[in-house]
Amino acid sequence: MTELENDAAVGRHLLEEALFAEDTGGQMGLSARNVSAWFGDHLVLDDVSLEMPARLVTALIGPSGCGKSTFLRTLNRMHELIKGASFAGEVRLGDQDLYDPTLKLTEARAHVGMVFQKPNPFPAMSIYDNVLSGLKMTGKRLDQAAKDDVVEEMLIKGGLWSEVKGRLREPGGSLSGGQQQRLCIARSLAVRPRVLLMDEPCSALDPTSTNRIEETIRELRDDVTIVIVTHNMQQAQRVSDQCAFFLASSTTPGKIVEAGATRKLFEDPADERTADYVNGRFG
Ligand SMILES: Nc1ncnc2c1ncn2[C@@H]1O[C@H](COP(=O)(O)OP(=O)(O)OP(=O)(O)O)[C@@H](O)[C@H]1O
Ligand SMILES: [Mg+2]
Repeated sequence: MTELENDAAVGRHLLEEALFAEDTGGQMGLSARNVSAWFGDHLVLDDVSLEMPARLVTALIGPSGCGKSTFLRTLNRMHELIKGASFAGEVRLGDQDLYDPTLKLTEARAHVGMVFQKPNPFPAMSIYDNVLSGLKMTGKRLDQAAKDDVVEEMLIKGGLWSEVKGRLREPGGSLSGGQQQRLCIARSLAVRPRVLLMDEPCSALDPTSTNRIEETIRELRDDVTIVIVTHNMQQAQRVSDQCAFFLASSTTPGKIVEAGATRKLFEDPADERTADYVNGRFG
């Protein structure tokens, strides 16, 4: 067996193990089955299925307009907020159907947090209160000591604590872009989601901040199931365990061409279009 074949086998094994593990330490994987999405009568995602197992980072890659962000938004029910948008299919978090009509939308979103391309902390609100702001919306009440603990824990997890511990009362807007993005990660984590969706979280950041966020992603992997959209092929290789390659054309809606262990997708893809994309020949 070559090294690559071996790696691919290990990757497959990891995937299978993660998919079928009974004890994931409270971790939950996400499963999208036969997901289609429309804007008005424009079908933009056609019958997409993807397993996003706990303890693995899944990267979504593909050229602009192929439906990566739309797919991400179907995973926490943000797609349905867009006027005229519709959805078909199933999204499950562990055993829970996220589209179960009896499940509150706020609850579904509490389980599946999201970090956006442009860091969006509340600029005038303190760093401290920013971390707690998502929790407030869920209606959870904490005493002062518990709040202090949550703020510290989440800023540590978000990889920001050492830089801001002396300035927690300063406004979120006083931080650098990379720090703001880590603040947004801390804010998302405070709600204790099972899944964290990240839509090009580093695309507005410099290489140092990008490194810092990638480190944070690797550290979070055991706590929360991560799905990240990225245009940066090096980043996909650095942070993800598995990858899904999306493609659309002017006449065909977005579909997954190929999904699997990251190293396999990059070094020995099954589809020629995947090879062309990951090698920068288009997109
Ligand atoms: N709010 C919207 N209303 C109508 N069409 C939309 C809307 N958002 C996205 N679309 C369309 O849906 C398709 C998929 O867009 P989406 O934003 O999901 O792609 P993407 O893969 O995230 O692209 P990018 O890499 O540029 O972010 C595109 O054809 C886009 O024009
Ligand atoms: Mg997008």
